[in-house]
Amino acid sequence: MNKLVIEGGKSLKGTVKISGAKNAALPIMAATLLTDERCVLHNVPKLRDTQTMVKLLTSLGKAVECDKNTVCISSNGPLKSMAHYDLVSTMRGSFCVLGPLVAKLGHAKVSLPGGCVIGVRPVDLHLKGLKRLNIKIEIENGYAVASTKSLKGNNIYLGGVFGSSVLATANVMMAATLAQGDTVIESAACEPEIEDLANFLSFMGAQITGQGTPRITITGVKKLHGVDYKIIPDRIEAGTFILLAAATKSDITLKGAYINHLLALTDVLEEAGLEFDYGVDTIHVKASRGLDPMSITTYPYPGFPTDLQAQYMTLMALTPGVSVITDKVYPDRFIHIAELNRMGASIRREGMIGIVQGVKGLVGAQIMASDLRASAALVIAGLAAKGKTEISRIYHLERGYENLDQKLRGLGAKISRRKE
Ligand code: EPU
Repeated sequence: MNKLVIEGGKSLKGTVKISGAKNAALPIMAATLLTDERCVLHNVPKLRDTQTMVKLLTSLGKAVECDKNTVCISSNGPLKSMAHYDLVSTMRGSFCVLGPLVAKLGHAKVSLPGGCVIGVRPVDLHLKGLKRLNIKIEIENGYAVASTKSLKGNNIYLGGVFGSSVLATANVMMAATLAQGDTVIESAACEPEIEDLANFLSFMGAQITGQGTPRITITGVKKLHGVDYKIIPDRIEAGTFILLAAATKSDITLKGAYINHLLALTDVLEEAGLEFDYGVDTIHVKASRGLDPMSITTYPYPGFPTDLQAQYMTLMALTPGVSVITDKVYPDRFIHIAELNRMGASIRREGMIGIVQGVKGLVGAQIMASDLRASAALVIAGLAAKGKTEISRIYHLERGYENLDQKLRGLGAKISRRKE
């Protein structure tokens, strides 16, 4: 296993290119199961999670070739209908092969993903939505076993206790593209990654309107075809670099990020006193002065993203004054608090709330990464802290940040990867 060693307390300077969005790439790769024709995807980030999806598609009978950030997916004999536990349990995104498989084959057996450190993470909304399309689903030995004689469009309400669901919307939308008649998904996820998936499906010949809004309408078609498609930039990677610039008082330009996908973050940071310059294709952050503490609550898009909650908490831990951070999407996503407190932060958890008493500075320590976004929060803390920080279990980071240490070294950070 590898660890990251960081000599912190230094401001960074330079330009960083934002990679393609992991959470758009995963369902889009799954959507290629809906056609026998070849699809070419550009701007796919090279990550452990996208490699897991490559393995899954290969196990389902696709031929997948990868060249840098381009992935070509074509048929390699008949599709298989079974997604095994070992691939679905390591990455929940794998569960969104269920919709496309059952739509294409009429049957599928996909392992249930189980929970993870950020919470219980049920799949009831996926199953409810797919059942409304005339699909029978039984749970057998930890697998969802789905079958249908013919998919039928329907009106589907997909709101849950914690709001809309990103991957349930993806699963149902993908299946509905090949259903008979119209499907209306109410309380659909509005995330840019869902919009990107809908755009990809439309290029394949699907008839979809309303993507990016809570009501998506899909008129089923008989067949989808292969396409060439470029994935959108990763708004969470971009947000992580913005928060990193603010926490380390750095001068960083992001290239390729879409500002429109980041407004919930930039709005709160501007109010806290951070200055931005927006170019056609760039976001420049020059963090020279201290910020005011600002409380946030996470919500589904266009609200403040849960995937930036941990990184934002690191910034607030370094911002004198009190801020209150509430996670309404994943109320248990606070595992980073204990590690930040080991570095001198003062954060108390009460249920779905983290109460942060900002301090003047953090100090380096040996800490442990626990999940993807919490790991990014610890990297930011290590870069901002005085002295040496060693972060173990960094395989979590490799799931979702392309070449993070290399990108940081390009900005002047002292960060290296060592064997544990
Ligand atoms: N939920 C249910 N029932 C369901 C599905 C979800 O109650 O059937 C609940 C969840 O437990 C959660 C809320 O609904 O409280 C939202 O979960 P959602 O389904 O939207 O999450 P997801 O689709 O499984 C995606 C991202 C996550 C990101 C969430 C929220 C991918 C591959 N994953 O997960 O990304 O946190 O949306 O925005 O797209 C990450 O990249 O680090 C990551 C965890």
